[in-house]
Amino acid sequence: MTTPRADEQDHGTPGRGALTQSAFLRAVRGEKPSHTPVWFMRQAGRALPEYLAVREGIGMLESCMDPDLVTEITLQPVRRYGVDAAIFFSDIVLPLKAVGVDLDIKPGVGPVVAQPVRTLADVEAIPDLTPEHVPFVTAAVRSLIAELAGIGEHGTPLIGFAGAPFTVASYLVEGGPSKDHARTKALMYGAPDVWDALMAKIADISAAFLEVQVAAGASAVQLFDSWAGALTPQDYERFVMPHSARVLARVGELGVPRIHFGVNSGFLLPLMGEAGADVVGVDWRTPLDWAIGQVGGRVVQGNLDPTLVFAPTEVLLERAAQVIEAGRAAPGHVFNLGHGVIPSTDPDQLARLTEFVQAYPLD
Ligand code: CP3
Repeated sequence: MTTPRADEQDHGTPGRGALTQSAFLRAVRGEKPSHTPVWFMRQAGRALPEYLAVREGIGMLESCMDPDLVTEITLQPVRRYGVDAAIFFSDIVLPLKAVGVDLDIKPGVGPVVAQPVRTLADVEAIPDLTPEHVPFVTAAVRSLIAELAGIGEHGTPLIGFAGAPFTVASYLVEGGPSKDHARTKALMYGAPDVWDALMAKIADISAAFLEVQVAAGASAVQLFDSWAGALTPQDYERFVMPHSARVLARVGELGVPRIHFGVNSGFLLPLMGEAGADVVGVDWRTPLDWAIGQVGGRVVQGNLDPTLVFAPTEVLLERAAQVIEAGRAAPGHVFNLGHGVIPSTDPDQLARLTEFVQAYPLD
């Protein structure tokens, strides 16, 4: 199999190959797709028995550094559900691990950092990311692009991703998952110079991580600011938005569409759009029609409650239809859950949901 050179790859620019005509890239550009495109955040993972099988005895971060395994795991949900986009299998803390930060991802817990970052010296000790830190990412993206070109009518686009500075900072400062982000906010309010240095450092690392994925052939990117909903709009605007905007601006120079997502982010949606998003991801608590009014003519992605897979199928599909109908008011709509797939999800429910969304008449 030949892998296209970076400068020959299709990054979703109109007129450059079949992938640009895929429902996902058409919707993201605000053009009329043949059907509402659908993919699921965390579509790869523990809900799939084939994922549990290949991950057996291999740690999460170790898996992310094995290009063959990353390729296989990324393709699993594409094969099973026929979703309209693949999302690169990795993690928001992988780039930190790659530059040498001592951290691990503990099953059932999440990222755990050995020495939390609290001072300017701690920030300065974190190296910048170069492509040489993540050769396994380049290799995995290239092999995925080659495989995905043959799946679906126009090929299947790959979405690259990174963690946004606030969400990644929370893990670094807290040392692990946190409900209230108290230490993170204490640093933000109490030592704004250290805060800005930390956020600038993470912004550079996340932007470089996205650049590697796009250079290797990713068609779009998603910046995950999962925990931004813990902030007021004022604090978001002062302490977070400029740094996320820098990440999105750097990726914007590469000409790929940018999706920006946060959980519980209703009040932040206008700012998250203004930060430089082409597509704003909407969490499940936020009514989609209201969200569309907030984001100033941008394309939206979302936002079915991920727990609806546990409802009877007819209820699941009735609610999915409501999401699709609400999405019509936006210039483009990418169907997704309003947060990640819950590990105990029955994959057959997601298969039915995918089929339903793709068959739903748009005219
Ligand atoms: O969406 C996908 O299919 C791509 C893969 C992906 C993973 N993590 C794989 C993963 C993506 C996009 C992420 C991003 C990520 N990681 C976020 C932002 C998205 C979100 O959910 O809000 C966050 C906050 C993290 C940090 C993180 N990593 C958490 C909270 C966890 C869960 C811990 C647990 O075990 O419940 C992880 C681990 C992780 N990342 C898993 C997967 C599939 C589970 C690890 C396993 O299978 O053992």
